[in-house]
Amino acid sequence: MSNSRRTFAIISHPDAGKTTLTEKLLLQGGAIHLAGQVKARGAARRARSDWMKIEQQRGISVTSSVMTFERTDANGETVTFNLLDTPGHEDFSEDTYRTLTAVDSAIMVIDAAKGIEPQTRKLFEVCRLRSVPIITFINKVDREGRACFDLLDEVADMLALDVCPMSWPVGMGGLFQGIYDLESGKVSRPEGPSKEFLGKVDENVELPEEVAEEMELAQVGYPDFDLEAYRAGDLTPVYFGSALKNFGVTELIEAISQYAPPPRPQPTEEGPIDPETPEVTGFIFKVQANMDPMHRDRIAFMRLASGTFKRGMKLTPSGLGKAIAVHSPIMFFAQDREIADTAEPGDIIGIPNHGTLRVGDTLSEKNKIRYIGLPNFAPEILRRVALKDPTKTKQLRKALDDLSEEGVIQVFYPEIGAQWIVGVVGQLQLEVLISRLEAEYKVEAMLEASPFDTARWIKGTDKALDDFESFNKMNLARDRDGDLVFMARSAWDVNYQQERNPELTFSATKER
Ligand code: G4P
Repeated sequence: MSNSRRTFAIISHPDAGKTTLTEKLLLQGGAIHLAGQVKARGAARRARSDWMKIEQQRGISVTSSVMTFERTDANGETVTFNLLDTPGHEDFSEDTYRTLTAVDSAIMVIDAAKGIEPQTRKLFEVCRLRSVPIITFINKVDREGRACFDLLDEVADMLALDVCPMSWPVGMGGLFQGIYDLESGKVSRPEGPSKEFLGKVDENVELPEEVAEEMELAQVGYPDFDLEAYRAGDLTPVYFGSALKNFGVTELIEAISQYAPPPRPQPTEEGPIDPETPEVTGFIFKVQANMDPMHRDRIAFMRLASGTFKRGMKLTPSGLGKAIAVHSPIMFFAQDREIADTAEPGDIIGIPNHGTLRVGDTLSEKNKIRYIGLPNFAPEILRRVALKDPTKTKQLRKALDDLSEEGVIQVFYPEIGAQWIVGVVGQLQLEVLISRLEAEYKVEAMLEASPFDTARWIKGTDKALDDFESFNKMNLARDRDGDLVFMARSAWDVNYQQERNPELTFSATKER
């Protein structure tokens, strides 16, 4: 059963076309009722970074966190697709990274005119950490873009991946005449005034000379598709298309269905757990405040890693030690509501709770397994938090603890001094922090410059840590879990301390 699941995400730089592609995938997958919800147009879209506003619109952020659709493949088998939203890439945060730990593969969308952009690259690196296989979609070929060879070579060089073109645009922009499928030799054609793909496919086409030449070069210049290499994360099949005009979308669904891996074994300290293991286990990769800010309800998103989950089942969260009954999970179904009471490995379940479930927790029947590998990342921006009303210290501490649990920010409590420091990987997280402090905790705060540039988690023997601590108190802090963190003024500072203290490790990530 479980190998009919395809749990994946789309990674891209803002504006490359992720939302448009998501809509088209859902439409083709038959989940039409969801498609209109993916994106608010125009002004509302600009407000997307402020996720609270979106939540107010009928809780879209919860429903669009996981989009499920089904499709019967060429062999008559039903494939269930779980598309996880990598949360609004404009407010790029740790949430985004962590979501990628819950997928088995990803589609990388690239704008044909722009090539690889910074966010694409960052997200790709996260995928690489876990050898997540990538299918590449070069979007917007209905517009003038860069030469195909240029784009392919850029992917190969910048990401150190083998590339294998699976399709080729017949012209781009004004000259665009369709997409050639390298395997079947068929060409999908634009139709009507909007020049969309509406199903017109030509066989045995005489290609324009320069396109035929390009194709010949492409076929000798790049390796053949190799399933093993793709699944190991070493090769990416590349599809050209236009999400807007519907070109290449079916091909992507086919590729995910045929090539993308079914649920993979998930890592624990004792080795990977196979999805076929009968015990129900899973891990929390994301926690989100509920739609109603008046209630402190949270939804914890669990990726099911093994077993068949049934509604009402008792599971023990690793952070809690005692079992909880999961009575009202939020399931993200396809059209078939019959399956609503059970979930299979690869599926995502939303579990409402009041803060008992934390990112990184394992849930299991026997409470023996612990999934690992959900990282904290060293913040790139550090700010001191100052209160406008100093009597609100307690509320602030509670808020910072809560929000760091959700992964909105990281918080550091210095060993000396009372000025707490928050760390983020993206500027927008800071804006979200300030508005949530006000809206949910009634705390007015300001962010001030901090002397620190980044942070490193330190590990070592007790003795080594004590020694280090006695000399460096000014630069030490504790994180939310009480772990020791070195607050660095620069990258140079980190290197210097690492060299002077070879018995300690200074780590840019912390696994939970
Ligand atoms: P994102 O989620 O990755 O940020 O991108 P999104 O889908 O919102 O697409 C960004 C813009 O690019 C949109 O224009 C969208 O219509 C356009 N777009 C997406 N796919 C294609 C494509 O295949 N061809 C062409 N020509 N355009 C495409 P927009 O909503 O009009 O935004 P804007 O242009 O006003 O910023």
